[in-house]
Amino acid sequence: MKGIILAGGKGTRLRPLTYTGAKQLVPVANKPVLFYAIEDLVDAGITEIGIVVPADFPMGREQIMSAVGDGSRWGASVTYIEQDAPRGLAHAVGICEPFVGTDKFVVFLGDNFIREGIADQARTFRDGTMNTILLLHKVPNPQGLGVAVVEHGRVVELQEKPAVPKSDLAIVGIYFLDYHFFEAARGLKPSARGELEITDALSRLIETGKDVRPEMITGYWIDTGKHIDMLDANRLVLDTVETRIDGEVDSTSQVTGRVIIEYGASVVRSVIRGPAIIGADAIITDTFIGPFTAIGDGCRITSSEISHSIVLDHARIEHIEERIEDSLIGRHAELRRASSKPRGHKFLLGDYSSLELQ
Ligand code: DAU
Repeated sequence: MKGIILAGGKGTRLRPLTYTGAKQLVPVANKPVLFYAIEDLVDAGITEIGIVVPADFPMGREQIMSAVGDGSRWGASVTYIEQDAPRGLAHAVGICEPFVGTDKFVVFLGDNFIREGIADQARTFRDGTMNTILLLHKVPNPQGLGVAVVEHGRVVELQEKPAVPKSDLAIVGIYFLDYHFFEAARGLKPSARGELEITDALSRLIETGKDVRPEMITGYWIDTGKHIDMLDANRLVLDTVETRIDGEVDSTSQVTGRVIIEYGASVVRSVIRGPAIIGADAIITDTFIGPFTAIGDGCRITSSEISHSIVLDHARIEHIEERIEDSLIGRHAELRRASSKPRGHKFLLGDYSSLELQ
């Protein structure tokens, strides 16, 4: 069985971070969200992996290729497949046909994140005779997602982002498929949002009598496309880390709860209340780092308070006494209190930045 990870697309909901980077590389507990998908595939015994990257976003494509490399770090072999433009998930999977051939395969959306991995479903699919397994998750408001109707142990109908959902079963972005999918995806017409929808191709499988099975997942599932979802994923992963202090913590600092402090980091006259992670070579001085916070490599944080946040590599935060909460702060971003008067707020914010003052 082969694996495909879709890492194309534009990531418009995570702007401005996605102007300068692929959304699948935004870190959860200091690890790109895409790496969790690779790990899930490898844990399920799937080591031949194709990653769809965006040809029309060279910066994102290069970043993904240099972060993942040839996959040998995970014991996998990675092939990159370029998509000319984000023409929809069915298109992205369709261009993988030469890579997949007639093997069974699993498609993993590069921004989806689940707790329990996919090893059990991969075994069922590998050994079974069904054509497709769709992972489903009960959610209260599935309007913004794909929705499945299940009867007598089979998926009988699908909807994509319906105004009036016919069930509360959302389609998780992980699909077990066989070669019939490629036949179904040929000749699809773009949807109202102009994309070739994976849900339309899957509906054709149902209409032509293919065996499409549901598998419920009960652990958490997060589509990390939006900033608040990234923070949720960060919280859930940090909650499971084991304490490891490889950096320096001075005697006047306090570290409590599950905390990772990476090599080269230093914590001076500060309080780190876990779950939290402090990246390599970060310097934390006279600061409170509160629960559920991930500080990236090389950050400098001085005389500030931060909780429930993700701070990307090399950001600087200085003398911000009001607590920074529920925030996602990009690479090399700088936040500091002015030392001279008049004090007023001075901003240099990129397009689509968002700032909330209280
Ligand atoms: O997250 C689960 C949902 O994913 C499902 O419930 C929906 O049925 C399914 O259509 C999909 O909806 P989204 O609107 O959230 O998909 P999105 O456009 O965010 O794309 C998902 C991933 O696929 C993302 O990592 C980018 C990548 N992608 C997207 C497009 C449109 C590509 O590689 N190529 C593309 O053309």
